Amino acid sequence: MVGKEKLGSEVIVIDILTAIKARRSIHRFKKDEVDTDILQQIFTYGSYAPTHYMKEPWNIKLYQREGKRQLVDAIIASYQRIGMLGSAADAKAAKTIASMRQFLMTIPHHALIYFEKESDMVRYEEEYASVCAFIQNAQLAAWEFGIGMLWTIAPYIHDKALAADLGLDGEAMKIAAVMQIGYPEKIPHDKGRTPISEKLEIISE
Ligand SMILES: Cc1cc2nc3c(=O)[nH]c(=O)nc-3n(C[C@H](O)[C@H](O)[C@H](O)COP(=O)(O)O)c2cc1C
Repeated sequence: MVGKEKLGSEVIVIDILTAIKARRSIHRFKKDEVDTDILQQIFTYGSYAPTHYMKEPWNIKLYQREGKRQLVDAIIASYQRIGMLGSAADAKAAKTIASMRQFLMTIPHHALIYFEKESDMVRYEEEYASVCAFIQNAQLAAWEFGIGMLWTIAPYIHDKALAADLGLDGEAMKIAAVMQIGYPEKIPHDKGRTPISEKLEIISE
């Protein structure tokens, strides 16, 4: 499954099967920003995910540069509400907050992925599944551009006050994930996978 595609002035070789196996979750990023044009292309590839009724449920808030402060402040406030972080008045908590803030601010881009909730459970699952397919498509496309991502989910995705801090109605919108994005500083080793024969049950009659 190797194909060639023209992207801007560059011709890149796309090998989807190689990308599926080679992609790793990236935990350490270089400081360099990714061009907006490239990020838009990556999310465009993401958007070719299957989507029932062509709902295309994904929405993205991309935080970068000083904009990251909004997201990081909201995350810290949420962790404080949940009780995972203490008040900044406490010296020990203040140190933890400062190092968390510094860590998150050094990641070049954070993409908050959200979708409109459905009251019908089947529809809700269809939208969530489609958003997950969007995320994985985007991760694979990013890998082809030499860009890494970390798919993150944390308790704050259920915090309606965090949603409000980010301008979202938490009753109507579901936060699916926050993707950390940038050029990889270090690519973790491949942990491999369980042979699929251990997971696969074939029923032929
Ligand atoms: C829905 C989802 C949520 C995840 N959340 C986190 C996370 O919060 N923090 C983290 O370090 N990794 C997170 N991961 C990444 C997994 O840890 C990673 O995919 C796994 O270790 C396998 O590594 P690989 O992606 O490099 O193959 C998440 C992955 C998925 C699919």
